[in-house]
Amino acid sequence: MKHLLKLLDCSTEEIIGLLDLADQLKYERKHNISHRHLEGKNLGMIFQKSSTRTRVSFETGMYQLGGQALFLSNRDLQIGRGEPVQDTARVLSRYLDGIMIRTYEQKEVEDLANYGSIPIINGLTDFCHPCQVLADLMTIREKFAVLEGLKMCYIGDGNNMANSLIVGGLKTGMRVSIATPVDYRPDAEVMAFAEPNPNFFITDDPMKAAENADVVITDTWASMGQEAEKEVRMKAFQGYQVNDELLAAAKPGCMVQHCLPAYREQEITTKVFEEHANEIFEEAENRLHAQKAVMVTLMSSKED
Ligand code: CP
Ligand code: NVA
Repeated sequence: MKHLLKLLDCSTEEIIGLLDLADQLKYERKHNISHRHLEGKNLGMIFQKSSTRTRVSFETGMYQLGGQALFLSNRDLQIGRGEPVQDTARVLSRYLDGIMIRTYEQKEVEDLANYGSIPIINGLTDFCHPCQVLADLMTIREKFAVLEGLKMCYIGDGNNMANSLIVGGLKTGMRVSIATPVDYRPDAEVMAFAEPNPNFFITDDPMKAAENADVVITDTWASMGQEAEKEVRMKAFQGYQVNDELLAAAKPGCMVQHCLPAYREQEITTKVFEEHANEIFEEAENRLHAQKAVMVTLMSSKED
């Protein structure tokens, strides 16, 4: 692997390899076993959108691996004043050992990778959120010990999370069922990847999607950058809430995941959220371990 731009680029073996390494790094961290695999390395973190988990988990993860992380917001970088990403990529490649970027367009992340000469990690775009889904798969596997054959159900907006969950779930042998309103379906490229797979099911009926699910997942109805559409979206997603009624259709004792931030009484009820808070915050913790696995895989020198 050279970059982590989207899960569509990753093989099943690469995804499982990252999850295995993430488990190992989590074990080492819990047992105070030092793992300074990135001693002396520098990660630049470009943020064009807000973040709590991604910023803090990448930054602390990098320190735990013996390296350093630089927070670069678009308010400070010349990117914010129109310097092309192609030039930024070629400059930053001369200072840094890797870049994590959170931005709007997927093309910007792909451009960084094409013009730069260092590993690029996608920390969320409008198209996908691969780091989050690696953490989700890790958390699901911790609970069930396997991924293959489990039924993952996603309810709500066909957004970046839906796109990455579909790809990550199908590539690891899960059955993936999605319920979105017809006007808010996942990205066409992801649908083209998923639809030929007999393990994929999409509907506009949340109860049908949730039937017998092992894991139920949701996300905000208005992602970053969609603030102006909020009112329209709140109406469009009525009936797509993860609540007790929906969970009654899933397997008894099913797992609930949410990438956070969670909007109570919108996409999820407070009751369901609190009853599943332990596994949701474990998912948030696993961002740290999963991303450390990504950084070690992409940024360790060959001779390390
Ligand atoms: N889930 C997630 O990516 O959180 P942040 O937006 O806080 O980074
Ligand atoms: N779909 C959400 C995920 C936040 C982590 C967004 O893009 O805002």
